[in-house]
Amino acid sequence: MLQIRCLTSLTDVSDVDTIIVPVWAPLSRSTELPGIDNSVFGRLFTLAEDARFNAKSGTTQQFPLLAQGDLKRLIFAGLGAEGEITVAKVQRAAGAALQAARNAGAVAIAVVVPGSGISADTFAQAWATGAELGLYRFMAYYGAGHPEDQRRPDPESLSFLTPSDLHSAVAASAARGQTIAEAVCLARDLVNEPAASMTPAAFADKAVAVAAQAGLEIEVLDAADLQRLGANAILGVGQGSDHPPRMLRLRYRPAPEVQLEPDRLVGLVGKCITFDTGGYSIKTYEGMLEMKGDMAGGAAVLATMSALRALGCPLAVDATICAAENMISGSAFRPGDILTALNGITIEVLSTDAEGRLVLADGLVDAARHGATELIDVATLTGAIMVALGDGATGLFSTNDLVANGLLKSSAAVGERFWRMPLFDELNERIRGDVGDIKNSGGRHGGAITAALFLKRFSEGLPWAHLDIAGASRFEKAGPLGPKGGSGVTVMTLINYLTGV
Ligand code: BES
Ligand code: MN
Ligand code: ZN
Repeated sequence: MLQIRCLTSLTDVSDVDTIIVPVWAPLSRSTELPGIDNSVFGRLFTLAEDARFNAKSGTTQQFPLLAQGDLKRLIFAGLGAEGEITVAKVQRAAGAALQAARNAGAVAIAVVVPGSGISADTFAQAWATGAELGLYRFMAYYGAGHPEDQRRPDPESLSFLTPSDLHSAVAASAARGQTIAEAVCLARDLVNEPAASMTPAAFADKAVAVAAQAGLEIEVLDAADLQRLGANAILGVGQGSDHPPRMLRLRYRPAPEVQLEPDRLVGLVGKCITFDTGGYSIKTYEGMLEMKGDMAGGAAVLATMSALRALGCPLAVDATICAAENMISGSAFRPGDILTALNGITIEVLSTDAEGRLVLADGLVDAARHGATELIDVATLTGAIMVALGDGATGLFSTNDLVANGLLKSSAAVGERFWRMPLFDELNERIRGDVGDIKNSGGRHGGAITAALFLKRFSEGLPWAHLDIAGASRFEKAGPLGPKGGSGVTVMTLINYLTGV
């Protein structure tokens, strides 16, 4: 993590080697930047114009600085139009600028806090989050000779240049931004880890460590516990694997002095399939490639929980993470099997590849039994949501407008794209059971909706929202907010929903 500082002027310290100047579109000249010769500064704007730098969010233009003290380079970071600024645009600008700075070998960076268009607090939080997300890499398995490993080390410090009366507020906002980014990066690390070392038991160990650090209670249920409980749906999914399932229950309770709405208990539920072969309804080569990431919902839920204490979350929150590996063996479950879920509903397994909704069925019921007053599940649930919304958007399904609108508002505030999907009642026909109560697959048409309608049956009449992140949980290519791989999506939205930041 970057060391955060606040400075009034570049002349305060001598170690800054890189200055980042956020600029609005269309580019207009500023006359001075203390610490840099005015005529040099003016000249850089001319050079930026010559280079057709348009100051759109996520674009940068870098110049070497000669004879300007310890400063070696200046980076213009586009913010887009002043009247159209958003948190997401600031994050993208920061990510792009910090990546450029790292590539150039920057060690000590300063960024000029804009004097208009956005409050210093909002800017500082978004900039800090974007900076950390942009710098994120998953380096655990690179050998010394790998080109990625030859890239520059991360910069050490990030200083906000702002009037001194704003220093304490800016520093606090930046720290919050870093805490949020750290949670997102935890989710990314969990998703990027290969399935061989991220089994249900390994995930549980990780969650125990996170809980201890983050001031959360945790309970880990193993297969024997799940049997006693009657959680046969998650057991069915996991029964073909040498790595048996775990159900994790995490509890966050706010300190009395920060608690609001004491009658409210938010229940988060995460799909944590550590690898999804599809089971006997086996996936294709292509379809199986990224299935180590089928635990992204569980990872997002754990990562969200990890930040609540540090951010002073005022609400009580429970998390239920349903971890299992969907494998093939002589003991695996089969199409045609019937599983009795925790609430007694019998499920006809049509496809062993529709396993996410099975583990979530038990998880939702367990969360409801523990007193949740609203349920939010997060799951890489269906390929169909990618057909509907593309790769980058999260499908939101909900029985409750208050919860749905709250999540939509939070997603917009943090720059994650959510889109509300319908729960057409008539599609329930497609999952009506032939010999049991309900089928686990409604076929291709409306696949994301029938999956959600299935989950609704296990929401126990509570206000409930379902987030289908099959597309959004991975970046298909590198961008300003991170490399190809796990995105950590929904962590920022859930944190905003629960804590207001
Ligand atoms: N984990 C998959 C969904 C998925 C697909 C996530 C692609 C990320 C990328 C899920 O378990 C699954 O296999 N769903 C099936 C459901 C079908 C059998 C009803 C699907 O979407 O094809
Ligand atoms: Mn599947
Ligand atoms: Zn799956």
